[in-house]
Amino acid sequence: MSEDELLDGLYPYRRDYRTYRAIPQDPVDRAELAAAVGFMAGQEDAMGDEGLVSGSLYSGDHDHYEFLGDIFSRFSHANILQRDMYPSATKFEGEIAAMVLSMLQAPEGGASVITSGGSESLISALYAYREQGRRNGITRPNIVMPVTAHVALDKGGHWMNVEVRHAPLAPDYRADVAAMAELVDDQTVALVGSAGNYPHGLIDPISEMGELAQERGLGLHVDGCLGGFLWPWLEELGYDIPPWDFRVPGVTSISADTHKFGYALKGTSTLSFRSKDLRRLQYFTKPDWPGGLYLSPGLAGSRSGGLIASTWAALLATGRSGYLSAAQEIMTAARTIRDGVEGIAGLEVIGDPYFLVAFKSQDPDLDIYLVNDSLKAAGWRLNALQSPAALHFCVTRPNTAPGVAERFVADLAAAVAYAREHRGEPADSGAMYGMGGTPQGDQTLNDLMTSVLDMMLEPAPEE
Ligand SMILES: Cc1ncc(COP(=O)(O)O)c(C=O)c1O
Repeated sequence: MSEDELLDGLYPYRRDYRTYRAIPQDPVDRAELAAAVGFMAGQEDAMGDEGLVSGSLYSGDHDHYEFLGDIFSRFSHANILQRDMYPSATKFEGEIAAMVLSMLQAPEGGASVITSGGSESLISALYAYREQGRRNGITRPNIVMPVTAHVALDKGGHWMNVEVRHAPLAPDYRADVAAMAELVDDQTVALVGSAGNYPHGLIDPISEMGELAQERGLGLHVDGCLGGFLWPWLEELGYDIPPWDFRVPGVTSISADTHKFGYALKGTSTLSFRSKDLRRLQYFTKPDWPGGLYLSPGLAGSRSGGLIASTWAALLATGRSGYLSAAQEIMTAARTIRDGVEGIAGLEVIGDPYFLVAFKSQDPDLDIYLVNDSLKAAGWRLNALQSPAALHFCVTRPNTAPGVAERFVADLAAAVAYAREHRGEPADSGAMYGMGGTPQGDQTLNDLMTSVLDMMLEPAPEE
């Protein structure tokens, strides 16, 4: 990739709009700003609105977004840390928690917090278990999870000095619970399973993990960030969903993202605990701070009332019937995609998926990343995976529009033909993933990723 291509990818507007490097002396005209933002939003939404993107956008309904945006604006400026000023936030937050706890079949005494997203929910759970371990005299805490559990846990472990032990998968691509048991020791504070995991969308054997957790006196967090707002409806629709929620003995906490299949605006997730005592482990209070008595339920300090109000409104404006019909449409589209993949020689579906279809090549001559190159050229945006090299299509509501899944299957067949024709050529994304496997490659990739992060946080360079 040339430097110009890289810059165009990161800063596509650098030639059309002024790049600000300091606050301008005089206010910029509001109409000008609104026009610029409107243009960028229109450009960037187009691909998702057409249904060509895997995951990422969950509702796709612009009326819904507009309604939520309106609700958001009523409290966007409100800091709900100041509850005396904004008691409505207590109503919204408490009711979101109650609705989610009921959806997750929590027992009496269950308790939730609202966080900024799936990563914060996972890291907060990790923190609660680390604190619980400390109280029990654990000084070198570790957690045990399958390799497919979300990487935010690795991030949290890195920040909080909790060792993260990764267990391999069973042949069905779900967690190998026996392998997890081998990794447990007297410093283990919790197990983690996913329902479903990000790479392959599969539900780990949560019941078996629950037994292991109970046997060994450990916490068990279930990451339902992605699937938590789908499984309850799929179960109700008659799909065979293995046990994963609080009905499983041994499950002590569950994360479920309102900003994914909850169809809320971006910026909220929920973390639910089996008991209030567990939730308390992630509170922070400091009574003797010169700034006054400080108390906060989690990581965030100031929080926008707009997000809490609009998340509350998203759950209510969708309703059970809305969630059920969306879940049905998602499964229908996912089935078409799964059948389509299974019908293409050389491709193999990973595991027994539901709404997220991951697939890999079964043929050494078929490079799945070349398949991705061709799909990209046809306008699709799938997620590329590694170990094993694969792609996944996480079906969301925009993908359920008539004809989208069928069009994908046709383009996928053409992409496989393209990959066969171009066999042996380096794929655009393949080189990156190929490098990840070796210590040297890891370092080079890490350096590259670090530079990209630097660039993402800076304005476009001067021409
Ligand atoms: C299973 C799972 N857990 C956690 C996360 C992290 O969520 P977020 O991106 O909201 O931090 C994701 C994101 O896709 C996910 O799929």
